[in-house]
Amino acid sequence: MVCLRRFLLGSFQLCLLLPFAACASLKCPGSKPCSDRPPVVLIPGDLGNQLEAKLDKPSVVHYICYKKTDEYFTLWLNLELLVPVAIDCWIDNMRLIYNSTTHMTEAPPGVDVRVPGFGQTFGLEYLDPSKRSVGIYFFTIVQAMVDWGYMRDEDVRGAPYDWRKAPNENKDYFLKLQLMIEEMAEKYGGPVVLIAHSMGNMYTLYFLNHQPQAWKDKYIKAFVSLGPPWAGVAKTLRVIASGDNNRIPVISPLKIRSQQRTAVSTAWLFPYAHTWPSDMVLVSTPTANYTSKDYQRFFKDVGFEEGWAMREDTEPLVSALEAPGVPVHCLYGTGIPTAQGYIYTTFPDAEPSTVLNGEGDGTVNMLSAIQCKRWKEQQKQPVHLLELPGNEHVAMLLNVTTVAYIKSVLFSP
Ligand SMILES: *[C@@H]1O[C@H](CO)[C@@H](O)[C@H](O)[C@H]1NC(C)=O
Ligand SMILES: *[C@@H]1O[C@H](CO)[C@@H](O)[C@H](O)[C@H]1NC(C)=O
Ligand SMILES: *[C@@H]1O[C@H](CO)[C@@H](O)[C@H](O)[C@H]1NC(C)=O
Repeated sequence: MVCLRRFLLGSFQLCLLLPFAACASLKCPGSKPCSDRPPVVLIPGDLGNQLEAKLDKPSVVHYICYKKTDEYFTLWLNLELLVPVAIDCWIDNMRLIYNSTTHMTEAPPGVDVRVPGFGQTFGLEYLDPSKRSVGIYFFTIVQAMVDWGYMRDEDVRGAPYDWRKAPNENKDYFLKLQLMIEEMAEKYGGPVVLIAHSMGNMYTLYFLNHQPQAWKDKYIKAFVSLGPPWAGVAKTLRVIASGDNNRIPVISPLKIRSQQRTAVSTAWLFPYAHTWPSDMVLVSTPTANYTSKDYQRFFKDVGFEEGWAMREDTEPLVSALEAPGVPVHCLYGTGIPTAQGYIYTTFPDAEPSTVLNGEGDGTVNMLSAIQCKRWKEQQKQPVHLLELPGNEHVAMLLNVTTVAYIKSVLFSP
């Protein structure tokens, strides 16, 4: 990858052919940045980047499970770990243990989970390092950017995180993100564009809400928000009630439920009463109806009272939907049946008998995605909304319209 650039040196006009990193450190003429494109940071969603684990466990749940490993191995996503029996080992490594005194989670004894590749793109281009097509995620966008002149891990970088947790347990992440943005802005001569997907938008909003306006004015050019669940997602109730194997059919929902319940970010993404109609029933059972006002009872009735504590811990993090204070581009898919309610005849240890669908991208309800419209009145920076009919939640990252829109944001004057 090269950077071809002409500039005046005394009376000689030189044409330099340099690696991009060297180019970025050049003093460019006038105040113009050396590069004609803003640096970009990608913030993935729930399940949206790789996780690794290293084991030295006092005990295992099955004799086939590894008790100790010499190296870190891929915990997410590796489909080989999700087949029957092996999945029991996986669940016991992937689950979190909630401490109701500290309101923090931790890994089970002897399990060390880490997020590989902060500052790099590989961990979110593909979820599965073996690059099977099942795990394609930000690859299409990153590859298009490379075709426009970007360099992976240089002026386009990823900001992966432990998506099982909510921002209250990822304090270090936000500091690392801030320092990386400052470094990129200085190295590449201009403010950064943030591109987030799904829950990554909630993380990004939390981050921006905690930065002074002067910092945002200096370092952030724009925030491109793809499939944002600003007001939560109805399908989270199903995940907690009866489990959800949506993406991987060999998995028993009830089995994976035991891991899914421990991920604090799921309770964080329950629909928010600030947006959800108070009479909209999210879950209906033979003995009760649950709306966005009935979560305490819901968690009790499904036999997972810790979930209510997790919700209370995380609900205030972004529930005010305070304007981000940077230019926003909100892109959201519609036209895909999206669960907005569930009817259970057996509750909670069986699949719902009926799924009531509404408008959305198959995961995020449209009602939730469009809440960025509030900021039009609340901030002076522009807020653009773009509906993408026919786009599914993850497939929207692969769609040419999305990619072309991102290009227009990056290369606008
Ligand atoms: C929860 O955290 C407290 C304070 O650090 C500690 O004393 C207690 O043992 C922890 N509880 C569990 C169940 O680990
Ligand atoms: C739940 O709501 C439905 C529709 O409003 C109603 O017919 C049903 O009786 C309610 N069920 C319970 C247990 O309250
Ligand atoms: C891409 O998105 C556009 C705009 O929503 C849509 O019309 C088109 O069908 C999508 N293309 C594919 C291949 O899904």
